[in-house]
Amino acid sequence: MSRIAVLIVAAGKGERSGRAKPKQYESLQGKPMLRWSVDAFGDRPMRVVIGPGQEDLYAAALPGFGPPIIGGARRQDSVRLGLEALAKDAPDFVLIHDAARPLASPQVIGNVVAALEAGAKGAVPMMAVADTLRRRDGAGWVTVPRDNLYRAQTPQGFAFADILSAHRQHAASDVTDDVEIAALAGLKVESVAGGETNLKVTTESDFALAEKLLGGESVTAMGYDAHRFSEGDHVWLCGVKVPHDQGLLGHSDADAGLHALTDAVLGCIGAGDIGQHFPPSDERWRGAPSWKFLDHAARLVAEKGGRIVHCDVTLICERPKIGPYREAMRVRIAEILGMDMARVSVKATTTEGMGFAGRREGLAAQAVATVRL
Ligand code: CTP
Ligand code: MG
Repeated sequence: MSRIAVLIVAAGKGERSGRAKPKQYESLQGKPMLRWSVDAFGDRPMRVVIGPGQEDLYAAALPGFGPPIIGGARRQDSVRLGLEALAKDAPDFVLIHDAARPLASPQVIGNVVAALEAGAKGAVPMMAVADTLRRRDGAGWVTVPRDNLYRAQTPQGFAFADILSAHRQHAASDVTDDVEIAALAGLKVESVAGGETNLKVTTESDFALAEKLLGGESVTAMGYDAHRFSEGDHVWLCGVKVPHDQGLLGHSDADAGLHALTDAVLGCIGAGDIGQHFPPSDERWRGAPSWKFLDHAARLVAEKGGRIVHCDVTLICERPKIGPYREAMRVRIAEILGMDMARVSVKATTTEGMGFAGRREGLAAQAVATVRL
């Protein structure tokens, strides 16, 4: 099997988009554009090139993804610097992709990979131009024949050593994609079928289109959990350590909030419940931090091609007081799920002294999650 690395270029400023942040860090359906572009490539080895000063935006968009590469002034500089950083791994091929294309389908990526594996030195997804094309000519317009005109998309795939040397050799030329650099170096590039929906988000109107294309069917499910109070000086709730004059009894860290949410997420894809995935009889999960359970459920959703677009947790207890920790809980859940905090809600209520929560024997949590498939 040939080794294929992915290079995502995300070092632009997105000036034409008119957004406050560089466009690749803006949210689409509750997830940063850059993350969509990265997720499209699944588990392939991947590096991301970002602009100087974009480190915080990058860390927020792709928590724990590994160090970024710092790019340059022009797209081609960012690509070249990215390729130089990959050089020590010496992959056979590299797929170079714009972070501004969050809709690359498995099919388009597969077309590029298939061409490379069949022996092509380069492969580019192309779409025939369907609209009539006109060029402005002084006060009027001139129609440009559209026969044989194509639009080039990314990912563009190349034999790694060849494209690296082409970029080094032709760094002084001004180009808009890597096929042009390859052509300058005399590299033959094969064209494969692109995708109509593989759009490059450039202007404000592209955002609305991308939002539509990324939307799908949505499914909602709920989860519930309760734990008994025991001796201790803190409890874990929604991934946050909360000081308290009692602890919670449980096989793991007894985080009822995350357990309820994990069950809600699993429920959206009909994947059973937390006990099935992490049996209390299994010693591996003794004292385990519950974010691992939620992370596992979120991965199962991603494997099914879904994404969590909203979640809402209600904690039911007399004590501890949740208010002071609520925002930290939202931040933590958003971090675990890689979501926009605006789509994560944490609430709390007492039961006015009634029932087990009212008698302070324990606490409970319920959660609702919505997944778009
Ligand atoms: N890009 C890059 N380094 C640059 C310029 C662009 O890595 N110096 C990346 C962008 O982040 C984007 C891709 O190249 O993913 C395509 O560029 P484009 O769509 O032009 O994005 P921007 O340059 O950010 O947008 P604009 O031209 O409107 O400023
Ligand atoms: Mg640009």
